[in-house]
Amino acid sequence: MFYPQEVVDQVIESNNIVDVIGSYVKLTKKGSTYFGLCPFHNEKTPSFSVTDNGNKQMYYCFGCHKGGTVLTFIMQYENVSYTDALKTLADRAGIALPKPDYSKEQEALSRKKDAILEVNKEAAKYFYHLLKSERGKNALKYLTDRGLSDETIRSFGLGYSDKYRDDLYQYMKSKGFSDDILKESGLFSIRETDTHDYFWNRVMFPIMDVRSKVIAFGGRVMGEGEPKYLNSPETICFNKRRTLYGLHAAKKHKGKELILCEGYMDVISLHQAGFTNAVASLGTALTEGHADILKRYTENVVISYDSDTAGRDAALRAIPKLRDAGLSVKVLDLSPYKDPDELIKAEGTDFFKERLKNAKNSLIFEIYCLQDQYDLNDPDEKTKFFNETAKRLSYIEDRLEQENYIQAVSKEFQIEYSMLKEKTKKLSLSNDNRQGFTTTPTIIKKKDETKTALAQCQKMVLSFLAEEPSFYDNVSDVIDESDFRLPPYDKAAQLLFSQLKAGKVNPNSIINAFEESDVQEEIADIFHDSFLKDISESDLQKTINDCIIRIRKSSIENQLDGVQDISRIVELKKEQERLQKFNIFGRKS
Ligand code: UTP
Ligand code: MN
Repeated sequence: MFYPQEVVDQVIESNNIVDVIGSYVKLTKKGSTYFGLCPFHNEKTPSFSVTDNGNKQMYYCFGCHKGGTVLTFIMQYENVSYTDALKTLADRAGIALPKPDYSKEQEALSRKKDAILEVNKEAAKYFYHLLKSERGKNALKYLTDRGLSDETIRSFGLGYSDKYRDDLYQYMKSKGFSDDILKESGLFSIRETDTHDYFWNRVMFPIMDVRSKVIAFGGRVMGEGEPKYLNSPETICFNKRRTLYGLHAAKKHKGKELILCEGYMDVISLHQAGFTNAVASLGTALTEGHADILKRYTENVVISYDSDTAGRDAALRAIPKLRDAGLSVKVLDLSPYKDPDELIKAEGTDFFKERLKNAKNSLIFEIYCLQDQYDLNDPDEKTKFFNETAKRLSYIEDRLEQENYIQAVSKEFQIEYSMLKEKTKKLSLSNDNRQGFTTTPTIIKKKDETKTALAQCQKMVLSFLAEEPSFYDNVSDVIDESDFRLPPYDKAAQLLFSQLKAGKVNPNSIINAFEESDVQEEIADIFHDSFLKDISESDLQKTINDCIIRIRKSSIENQLDGVQDISRIVELKKEQERLQKFNIFGRKS
């Protein structure tokens, strides 16, 4: 934490959440809660709620599950860092922030990052200089032969790494950089007996973060050779799973979508052709981190992966991740060309524009891929395809959206509309029934489906205690904070339990104890009590009770693993038996 907690609390308390959010979103009061259209996803009926009673200054969207404090709202809406959001709110309330209180380690880390960025910047300048010099003649020819203009080469900062094994190293030493920092940059292998550069004789692609700082490099062999591309290893400045190539330029594009492709050259060709909204996930599979970042800059993504099987499979894997992040997804057909770079070169800008316009909705794309697995001349196979298609459609929760898809699919695949509709509705109903209450209640929505049951239990018990602190004494007889062992609930439990002990729950200070905004959202989730309202009293009691038993049992299992002492084992086993009969609610009244 960069600022003392008291200051953060003061800033948050001085900014009424309804006033702040109300200046961005039109809110209408219903009972004690305000509702409006969610600014984080597209919707027609308001599911975005804001509460400002007492300590509970929160927002939460029942549609996309984003939620948090006034501070996380600014982070998400304005797309700024924690510190910047804090500054915005401090300004708004006329509070002067003290000089940030960096810890020693944070200060050292931040200095080291700056030093690595400095190394990268020097290296990028050097590679660019080489490319333009006599020594880079072949490299420059390679790039221009591939159709890149001088302007493109300059704006992407392309370069050349020389064929001498420690050329860059010697250069950087002459600039006064220390071995320690050169080592951390990932650009060199530095050993007592042998020191050499990581990249030799390659055309160089600097990878930049959104602030246009060089955080890593990719290097391509000129012509044939293995590996075709070499990329910097991960460093404290470079996290592959959260980096999108070209985003520093694409974020300036104020259009309605981002084009997602596979590689360096795709992005560069597209930008050169005027599609300045192209980015790439650089060979690695698209991660949830990538999807989250895309969502910060757009609502719509058009996947433009290679047209080979690998590209198609990668698209099929990327689609659900993008959808889960709340993005609307289309897929562009590149065939008969291999990738966007080839297509643009062969057919030009207008052709790509046309393909972009005709990009298929991702569900339709998925059904096309599905269709390829069946021989539609065989009646059996045809029925299977039909059933599988209806099943996919039945998962669409929104009824209007489902209806629109049934129409679109029936038209696109020439399936009789009324039959498809009937089958889909039937399957939708049985899905709804299956989701009926068992030990994991219906409130566990999509976002949580990937969580383990134990994590869900930990979250629900914390949520319950935050809402019903009077049960703390009963619960604390059986479990304490040390039984919550899954991050981030371990730390959340420590904080919440100590607040419960002190008799005052303060969700804001718990949420703000976490620095990453996605973790903050996760924690904010604990403090919205929708599930307490959605389930009947008796179901809730049973669920919470089961959860507590489950958490404690798992904790005991864990302890049993490490215990040698027989009497302790017996004790724990006895406790496990006693747990079966435990009922917090039975003892309350
Ligand atoms: P491709 O093999 O499709 O390369 O890999 P490309 O972009 O079409 O490259 P050119 O046109 O032949 O120059 C797509 C991306 O996968 C990563 C790179 O980021 C590349 O741009 N990749 C590929 C690697 O990291 N290493 C490799 O050896 C190959
Ligand atoms: Mn490619």
